[in-house]
Amino acid sequence: AYNERESLFILNEYARTYFINTLHQHSEGKTVGLSYFRERGFRDDIIKKFQLGYSLEQRDALTQDALKSGFNKDYLVRTGLTIEGDNYMVDRFRGRVMFPVHTLSGKVVAFGGRILKKAENTGKYVNSPESDIYHKSDQLYGIYFAKQAISKADCCFLVEGYTDVISMHQAGIENVVSSSGTALTLGQIKLIHRFTPNITVIYDGDAAGIKAALRGIDLLLEDGMNIKVVLLPNGEDPDSFSQKQNAESFTGYIRQHEVDFIRFKTQLLLDDAGEDPIKRASLISDIVNSISIIPDGIIRSVYTRDCSVLLGVDERVLINEINKKRLAYL
Ligand code: CTP
Ligand code: MN
Ligand code: MN
Ligand code: MN
Ligand code: MN
Repeated sequence: AYNERESLFILNEYARTYFINTLHQHSEGKTVGLSYFRERGFRDDIIKKFQLGYSLEQRDALTQDALKSGFNKDYLVRTGLTIEGDNYMVDRFRGRVMFPVHTLSGKVVAFGGRILKKAENTGKYVNSPESDIYHKSDQLYGIYFAKQAISKADCCFLVEGYTDVISMHQAGIENVVSSSGTALTLGQIKLIHRFTPNITVIYDGDAAGIKAALRGIDLLLEDGMNIKVVLLPNGEDPDSFSQKQNAESFTGYIRQHEVDFIRFKTQLLLDDAGEDPIKRASLISDIVNSISIIPDGIIRSVYTRDCSVLLGVDERVLINEINKKRLAYL
């Protein structure tokens, strides 16, 4: 007898296969879904590898098929595949291209579904809700396909979204995962740290991307990871950019543009503060804070020296402030 969690996984596996079959065999899936992926430049082998699918527009297509196949309603609701109302049941994912989310060992824990056209009344992506098997903050999109490449390269690229991961794979860069649009959590950091201490964040080259690049990174410092940041040309995300590159030219761009996180943050805040003394004081305390959470003393002192030059502040003053902060933690 299977336990309950196992049953939820089996249902998700069934749904994954259902969405894949719909994409490749159903006329709506082919004309709407498959052509959407192809227009975006996704190759067939990549569509297969990432197990991409399509959910029909019919409001309960999956629910009805699942019930007919013998799955019980309770599980359909618990995985979030079905939404139950007072006297109706409807599919969560309708008329969307589907991205299964895999655990480290390749089990399907959730789905993301993207609309095909712009629509005002719904978000661009709909995602599975939290469930007994899906805790969003512990998962990283792409980790199952990336883990070997991360170990081999001893480095992990972190991007914003599903399509960024997929297009980078297609370009031949496989050590890449996504936190799916939210700030990194400690659980996700620990997952990456199992394979490497080196992370390079590649975010969109716009203001939102830069902000996102700063968010959640202090957690990485605290975990003793080495963090670099790459900004893409304005208007590009890793998906659009890698569609125009091959592995070599993309890697070349990264090598030329990757900067150490603390330096990146310092420079960014400096540009922002200008000559304003209050802003400069608050930026110094922000940087002091980031440096003070780094566990390794030697690395801390290297950053302290660097930042004293960048900030034009006496090194002893910084050391003093950093020590005060560290004492406050103890
Ligand atoms: N996201 C989400 N819900 C939304 C918008 C975004 O869950 N309404 C998550 C998705 O995981 C998405 C990621 O945040 O992949 C990044 O968002 P965005 O940059 O807007 O989307 P892209 O991944 O670039 O998707 P696309 O290229 O298809 O527009
Ligand atoms: Mn380590
Ligand atoms: Mn963006
Ligand atoms: Mn994006
Ligand atoms: Mn995109």
